[in-house]
Amino acid sequence: MKLVIATRNAHKLEEIRSIFDFKNLEVRSAFDFPEIPDVVEDGDTLEANAIKKSVEIAKATGCWAMADDSGLEVAELDGAPGVYSARYAGEYCSYSDNNEKLLRELAGKSNRSAQFRTVIALSDPEGNVQTQEGACPGKIIEELRGTNGFGYDPLFVPEGYIETFAQLSSEVKNCISHRARALQKAHDVWSGIIGS
Ligand code: IMP
Repeated sequence: MKLVIATRNAHKLEEIRSIFDFKNLEVRSAFDFPEIPDVVEDGDTLEANAIKKSVEIAKATGCWAMADDSGLEVAELDGAPGVYSARYAGEYCSYSDNNEKLLRELAGKSNRSAQFRTVIALSDPEGNVQTQEGACPGKIIEELRGTNGFGYDPLFVPEGYIETFAQLSSEVKNCISHRARALQKAHDVWSGIIGS
């Protein structure tokens, strides 16, 4: 059985490989299929994008495929930026543009609750797909703190901590993050299908 991990992000690949053993599988990544174009992430939800990526890659390669999509969901903003997290401040915006916009939108608001959420989809070569998800609850603080990580990390304090994701080490973040929780769940539920 062959499994393609539908990402060209080396960091994500490493994180997935650290959780799954993939004993009985030939594992490939999108790096091994340069001829396949990137899937356009135009879904309205994290689920839709994860499903679209895994099904398109599975059908294009004839292999099983795993894909994920993540976003930051802020309660006071009705779940925004959510599926639009990467381009919250505009099509070609930077992480810092996104963080500035988030601080502007939350200025003067007392409810700063938020969560990061990841959806992982697994598709067989025919496009039969299932999903698992993981979330990391926390809050958005009022100024940037820390330099580790990426994206909204300097503004997000996970529940049970006083540091932001950007102040925590990658070891700690990778234990409690939305992605880690989704991957752990996927591992628990799917290990019978794709190995432990
Ligand atoms: P992706 O689906 O993993 O590419 O994530 C989409 C966007 O969500 C990223 O471009 C970031 O803006 C945001 N995001 C996802 N995961 C994280 C995280 O762990 N820390 C900070 N921002 C994140």
